[in-house]
Amino acid sequence: DTSTRELLLSRIRDVADYPKPGVVFKDITPLLADPKAFTALTDALAELCAKHGATKIVGLEARGFILAAPVAVRAGVGFIPVRKAGKLPGATLSQAYELEYGSAEIEVHAEDLDQDDRVLVIDDVLATGGTAEASLELVRRAGAEVVGVAVLMELGFLGGRARLEPALRGAPLEALITL
Ligand code: PRP
Ligand code: MG
Repeated sequence: DTSTRELLLSRIRDVADYPKPGVVFKDITPLLADPKAFTALTDALAELCAKHGATKIVGLEARGFILAAPVAVRAGVGFIPVRKAGKLPGATLSQAYELEYGSAEIEVHAEDLDQDDRVLVIDDVLATGGTAEASLELVRRAGAEVVGVAVLMELGFLGGRARLEPALRGAPLEALITL
């Protein structure tokens, strides 16, 4: 609701010229440090988990982990980490994706997801949509169903929603705050 959104927004700090000149970084550490705000965020995301009937939460390293893990506990579903390449010890599926400069690769343990799973992907920010898009590829390649993507913040001016649209295949993109 509106009061939750206002509380969350009030705990996100703008940092000018980080990580480079001209960029305004959206820092969530004040929100994490405020138990009322962090709890409100966890509750709001856990509600989305229930609303979409998710059976697993996939969190995206690193900031997505901070949000997704307590949501999984609150919602009573499993937590699956999608990690940056080279960090998972078991058999993995990998997905490369393009960044503004260069490329990146993320991985998931193949055995952590199967055909019965209904997955909600959680991250802190949707910017260009590249990270979320790659994570949906991984979830589907692992055989599971995507029931949605949920983020704290969507940076609307970067067009991530449009980029993600085909990969969503009708599943919802839920943003608690759109900037
Ligand atoms: C940031 C953010 C999202 C992603 C969004 O992660 O946490 O995961 O970028 O960008 P995109 O929509 O353009 O893909 P980043 O990998 O920078 O750092 P982190 O490890 O701190 O989460
Ligand atoms: Mg991230």
